[in-house]
This record gives sequence, C-alpha cells and structure tokens, in this order.
Amino acid sequence: MERTFIMIKPDGVRRKLVGEIVSRIERRNLDIVAMKMLTPSRKLAEEHYAVHKGKDFHDSLVEFITSGPVVAMVVEGESAVKIMRNMMGALNPEQAVSGTIRGDFTVSTCENLIHGSDSTETAAIEIELWFADLAAK
Ligand code: GTP
Ligand code: MG
Repeated sequence: MERTFIMIKPDGVRRKLVGEIVSRIERRNLDIVAMKMLTPSRKLAEEHYAVHKGKDFHDSLVEFITSGPVVAMVVEGESAVKIMRNMMGALNPEQAVSGTIRGDFTVSTCENLIHGSDSTETAAIEIELWFADLAAK
C-alpha cells in the first residue's frame, strides 16, 4: 500500500470542483484516509513549494496557493502516487489529455486545480508537512 499527498488548489474550490475531483478519486477505488479544508499560511506554502524557490513563477505560485481555501488529502492504495499523477494529467496544458482532471477542466499552467506528490519520498515529506499527526502514526 502506498500513500500520496493530494491538494485541490484554490481554483478547484472556487470553481466548485471539489465534489467532481473527490468523486474521481473514490470511483478509482483509492482510499481517502485524511481530508481537511484550510487556507494555507505563507510559511506552509513556501515549505511545500521549497523546490521551486528562486524560479520566476515561485512568488506568484505562493500567492495563488494562499489565495483561499484548499482541500488537502492523504490518498492510499496500490501505486497511489503514480495513479494519482496519471489522473491529474500533465502540467503542460497542451499535453494534459482529456479524461484527466487538468485535461478536462483547465487550460492554465498555474491554476491547474490539483497537486499530487511526484514520488513516494516526496509523499512522505508532504504528508508530514500537512498532516503531522497522521505521519507520526
Ligand atoms: P504540482 O502537483 O502542483 O507540484 O504540479 P506538477 O508536479 O505537475 O508541477 P511542478 O511541480 O513542476 O510545478 C508546481 C506548480 O507550480 C504547478 O502545478 C503550477 O501550479 C506551478 N507552475 C509550474 N510551472 C509554472 C510556470 O511555468 N508558470 C506558472 N505560473 N506556474 C507554474
Ligand atoms: Mg510538483
């Protein structure tokens, strides 16, 4: 069993796509083992996107992620990391194919509805950051 950290970004909440996205995860038969809605602090957003520090889009990315509530989740299942990345769709809108969350609902590189950990190592770090009590168990 594998766990991954998933976040529905502020655009997903604003556009009322929480139900749609949660439903896709459930229909795939992955388990949502933790879920909460919060507006991330600047500190949390900067820690989460620390790998992008120094890039030209870093500041606007932190601005965006802190602009309103997000839905943070821990999703569990066999190959959950890769399966969720496939369900999300590519970062480049031209490569995000129909049937994926990004491919069906966005044409933006920044406002792209959903984040998912890109490896099991990153997942462990992100689950610890967003759900410290769960990671400790
Ligand atoms: P995440 O799951 O959110 O990490 O997406 P990703 O792994 O598909 O992409 P990546 O980690 O490379 O980038 C993280 C986030 O930064 C993206 O999801 C976008 O929201 C934003 N981002 C990445 N590249 C760009 C860019 O060139 N311009 C802008 N404005 N935002 C970007
Ligand atoms: Mg990423």
